[in-house]
Order: sequence, then C-alpha cells, then structure tokens
Amino acid sequence: MKRSFALLGMAALACAGALYAQNGQTKSSGPKKGAATKADPAAVAHGKEIFSQKCGICHFDTSDAKKIGPGLKGLNKRGTFSVNNNKVTDENLKAWIEHGDNLMPPFKDVLEDAQIKDVIAYVKTL
Ligand code: HEC
Repeated sequence: MKRSFALLGMAALACAGALYAQNGQTKSSGPKKGAATKADPAAVAHGKEIFSQKCGICHFDTSDAKKIGPGLKGLNKRGTFSVNNNKVTDENLKAWIEHGDNLMPPFKDVLEDAQIKDVIAYVKTL
C-alpha cells in the first residue's frame, strides 16, 4: 500500500512537469505582433479629416484629375511625384507638404508634425 502511494506521487510530479514544459512551449511560439506594415487606421481616418479641411480645395482624393493641383488618387501606387519625379516616400511627402512650391502653399506653419504624419498616412492609401 505505501509503495503504491509513492508511485502515485511520482506520477503526479511527472505530469506536472509535462504540463509545465508544454506551457513554456506555447508561450514562446506563435507569430510576433507589432511588426506594423499596415497603416494605422486611426491615423488614416484623422488624416482624411485634415485632408478635407486643408488639401481638398486644391486636390481630389478620389480622382487623379486636376483641380488646382493634381489629383492624388493612385499617387502611392504610381510611386513617383508628377511634379518632380521624386519617389513617393514618407520623407518626400513630408518635405513636399511642409515646403510646397511656387504653386502649392507650404504647410509647415499650418499643421503640426503629427497632423502632417496623419495626412501622409491618408495620402498613401489613395
Ligand atoms: C492652394 C492649393 C493647394 C493646397 C491647399 C494644397 N495643394 Fe498640393 N499641390 C497644389 C499644386 C498647384 C500642386 C502642383 C504643383 C506643381 O505643379 O508645381 C500640388 C502638388 C501636390 C503634390 C504632388 C502631386 C504629384 O503628383 O506630384 C502632393 C503630394 C500634394 N500637393 C499634397 C498636398 C497635401 C497633402 C495638401 C494638404 C496638406 C495639399 N497638397 C494642399 C496645390 C495645393
């Protein structure tokens, strides 16, 4: 009788060990989160608002037709600015929006950095 209790105890310990090992495994596996490649939907929505207030008078966002400035639909897919053939990157968009040119007003003193970032996030979805 004593002997079988001891065996039972050992079996229980072994089980616990196995469970522990399994838990350890599930914790370390699985895909990592947070490697964001997609635009943050909140930033895009906010950017759209700013666009309609500040950019929409001169730019279509749903068409590539010219308004005052060129329509921005498809800009990101095309990959280059029509005005200067620069690559469409966050940096180039930021520089363009901040400084404009002789036909487009600069937004450096109109929009906050964070607002420019959100507009860029929106423009890239067009
Ligand atoms: C007062 C009118 C006006 C406003 C407001 C304006 N733009 Fe422009 N934008 C222009 C004009 C005009 C051009 C073309 C410049 C040229 O041909 O040299 C242009 C060009 C651009 C381009 C380059 C497009 C291409 O195909 O190369 C981008 C991107 C752009 N604007 C983004 C914006 C954004 C974002 C805003 C709002 C923050 C904005 N613009 C506000 C007039 C405007």
